[in-house]
Amino acid sequence: MLNDRQIADLRARFPILHNKIYLYNCSQGAVSDVVEAGMREYAASWRESAAPWDVWMEKYEEARVSFARFIGARPEEIAIVTSASAGINPIASALRFDERRKVVMGAYEFPTMGHIWLAQRARGAEIQFVESTGNAIPVESYDRAIDRRTLIVPLTQVSFLNGFRADGEAITRLAHERGALVFLDGYQDCGTRPIDVKALGVDFFVTGTLKYLLGPSGLAFLYVREEMIESLVPTLSGWMAQREVFAFDAKTFDLAPAARRFESGTPPIPSIYAAMPAIDLLCRIGPENVAEQIRRLTAAFMEGARELGIATKTPQDSVGPLVVLRSIDASTMVRRLAERNILTSARHDGVRFSFHVYNTLEDVRVALAALEENRDLMVRDGDGA
Ligand SMILES: Cc1ncc(COP(=O)(O)O)c(C=O)c1O
Repeated sequence: MLNDRQIADLRARFPILHNKIYLYNCSQGAVSDVVEAGMREYAASWRESAAPWDVWMEKYEEARVSFARFIGARPEEIAIVTSASAGINPIASALRFDERRKVVMGAYEFPTMGHIWLAQRARGAEIQFVESTGNAIPVESYDRAIDRRTLIVPLTQVSFLNGFRADGEAITRLAHERGALVFLDGYQDCGTRPIDVKALGVDFFVTGTLKYLLGPSGLAFLYVREEMIESLVPTLSGWMAQREVFAFDAKTFDLAPAARRFESGTPPIPSIYAAMPAIDLLCRIGPENVAEQIRRLTAAFMEGARELGIATKTPQDSVGPLVVLRSIDASTMVRRLAERNILTSARHDGVRFSFHVYNTLEDVRVALAALEENRDLMVRDGDGA
């Protein structure tokens, strides 16, 4: 666990924390000195030598190695892409929807997951949504939905809507027992605790850098389990997917034998320069320490919301990072909080408070005080909804 001194030192690296209570992490993480330095380093490399592609390609390969280590994978299992969508799409394009054509996914998926698989209906996919019960989607609901006709289960690890954390391991076991694949979307989770894709056993994993990984937009990573890679031939492709990238041979389609085969065009070099120092910083802090701090803050915030009698959309036993409170007018509430320098975000009837390692119990106290003052905009516990 980090002590107060370590948290204070860490906070000093994020200028916005001097005057804002930053609970906006589920939308965009705060910018740090190391990320700004990465941006400057990119600008300098470009300015000094026009376009040093040899250096930039080294940085791109280093990013692959670092991220692989971060999630317990091998570098050959990582594709570097520009968004989660750009990681999911080539996999969807490589699958065939014939004997197995069902895609089973929860109602809490981020829209891009829904849209990409819904788009596959034109190629024969049948989509089945698993609905929530209360504030959760229990494993039993997946148990009922996944069958021998199920091809794949796209699964959000933590829901952007209410912070519900799915039991990825149990659902993966279930899916694999029935011969179905699992595609885990770790965007709302990765960066908040240790992750080991091998222990989870998932076939595919995707995340991007702009939220809890504390980087900019424009960079995401796709993990593909080694044994799957060469059996999949994406029809969304490009020159960076080829075995010999610099052969410049437009007449030959010869995919890389590694997960790079799911990439497409020129890599997002500026985002790599900016994002990777933040991942290094998280590694130095220690993912266990990050998880412990978030758990502490989430527990305190949930307890405070309960005492105020505010209805939550997040399960009571949640350990974070996202807590969503029910509001009669979430956008107005977010505005009122912003007037008090508390940064949150709204989705439908929920106000999202998301915690990271640099938040403190004082942030929790100030946010709860602001909620108390604005209770008129919040749904009270027991008011239905
Ligand atoms: C769970 C989840 N997946 C994916 C995304 C973003 O996807 P993309 O990188 O394609 O914009 C988000 C962003 O809010 C998200 O919360």
